[in-house]
Amino acid sequence: MALFEKKLETYILLSSLLFSAIFYSISMRGDNEQMQLAYDYRFEEAVLESKMHRGINIGNALEAPKEGDWGVYIRDEYFRIIREAGFDTVRIPIRWSAHAEKNPPYRIDEDFFNRVDWVVSKSLEQNLITIINIHHYEEIMQDPSGHSDRFKALWSQISEHYKDYSEKLYFELLNEPYGELTDEKWNMLIRETVEIIRRTNPIRKIIIGPTGWNSVYNLKGLVIPEDENIIVTFHFYTPFEFTHQGAEWVSPSPAVGRKWLGTEAEKKQITEELDMAVQWAAQHGDVPLFMGEFGAYSKADMHSRVRWTRFVAREAEKRGIAWCYWEFCAGFGAYDQDKGEWRTELLNALISEKHYVTVETEYGNAFGTGWYDEGSYVLIGINTTSWGFYVFDHFEGLGPRDRMIDERTVEIYVDGLRMIKAVWRIDYVKPLAIALVFFVAFVVAILYKRRVLKLGEHLILGMKFFTHLQNQPACDFIQIRITDIQCRMS
Ligand code: BGC
Repeated sequence: MALFEKKLETYILLSSLLFSAIFYSISMRGDNEQMQLAYDYRFEEAVLESKMHRGINIGNALEAPKEGDWGVYIRDEYFRIIREAGFDTVRIPIRWSAHAEKNPPYRIDEDFFNRVDWVVSKSLEQNLITIINIHHYEEIMQDPSGHSDRFKALWSQISEHYKDYSEKLYFELLNEPYGELTDEKWNMLIRETVEIIRRTNPIRKIIIGPTGWNSVYNLKGLVIPEDENIIVTFHFYTPFEFTHQGAEWVSPSPAVGRKWLGTEAEKKQITEELDMAVQWAAQHGDVPLFMGEFGAYSKADMHSRVRWTRFVAREAEKRGIAWCYWEFCAGFGAYDQDKGEWRTELLNALISEKHYVTVETEYGNAFGTGWYDEGSYVLIGINTTSWGFYVFDHFEGLGPRDRMIDERTVEIYVDGLRMIKAVWRIDYVKPLAIALVFFVAFVVAILYKRRVLKLGEHLILGMKFFTHLQNQPACDFIQIRITDIQCRMS
């Protein structure tokens, strides 16, 4: 009998240790399902060979028949205003064809050159990547063979003229080729023109784009010349019926009133096209991509324009695509030249400031730490609500615009630097339950040793203990074990 009791004593001690271990490990078990981050930001990390990130077109100025004809005359301070707002790139569309002789040698007007020089130098002074192109050369679209010599002569003069300018000056061959300028003709013209430019500008960045008004869908027809300093551009106005509603220069002009709400279907239409561009670039030696124009005309409602602009810009950034908004201060303008101030909604949609969000926790893991756009909503949280003797209590650092999604996830509004801390409290039930198990085990063991307890008595005690533990939800294991002991003993 003494041997039996000794064994039993050891058994009880061991089982209570085992209970404790199981109990502890159960309490440590959290739900480890990982939350996906709301935002996948790769733009800053992407090594952009193009060195461009965010740009703006100074449209309706030098590509008008005469500067000022379309309401925009480029003022020196525009470049400072643009740089200070956070852009690093400016695209200056230029209608060279309206300022050059019609016949060989197709000389470009000197005064016009001087004007462009001035504008370019003001831009470069601000350290902006400065793109000049040939814009609105409509005649070449109708009659490519009749105008290709003139086109090449224009580039020969432009490239000679700017050959000693900073490497931050980029050349873009032609805005939105279309019409009779088919893929075949355009690819040939690209090859010949790049060759001409390279005689005087061996390493300057040259931007080329596909036909179909620089459509993503026409990238497949574009042949990139063998050259290390080529950037491929495309223009993005999808859905056209939204971005060009009421556009006077489009016939028939899409009806005014169309909104862009950012529904899943609307977003998909955009991301699919951007993905097409990225896939194409990946299949073509990872050539750098440049979304040289995108924007929504002022006849669309401002909220839709802001939503669309923000979405397109961020989606391009996610894919490592540099972008250039169309345009600065005319019909799509992000800047109000009469008031002399930015349209803040549009500017914020383009250059949203980024803020760092820190999510801290002492136990388990927290997610959501990172850089986010000003004004965005981000999911942050912890991946478990119990950790050892601790249970998650609340988040510290929440603001009025944040809202709980569930017990451990919260959607926060990024309006500045945010520090969110998970606060935990000790779960007294667990240590007390474990202590109780130990205590009972010891008492039982000691009573056996001192032969105070007899078999019948300890069965009654077991039953009582069992009934008592039934009211303790966390003690299932103990119930099983006590029953187990009873069975072995009988
Ligand atoms: C044209 C502009 C036009 C814009 C949007 C540009 O390429 O040069 O005249 O406003 O596209 O359609």
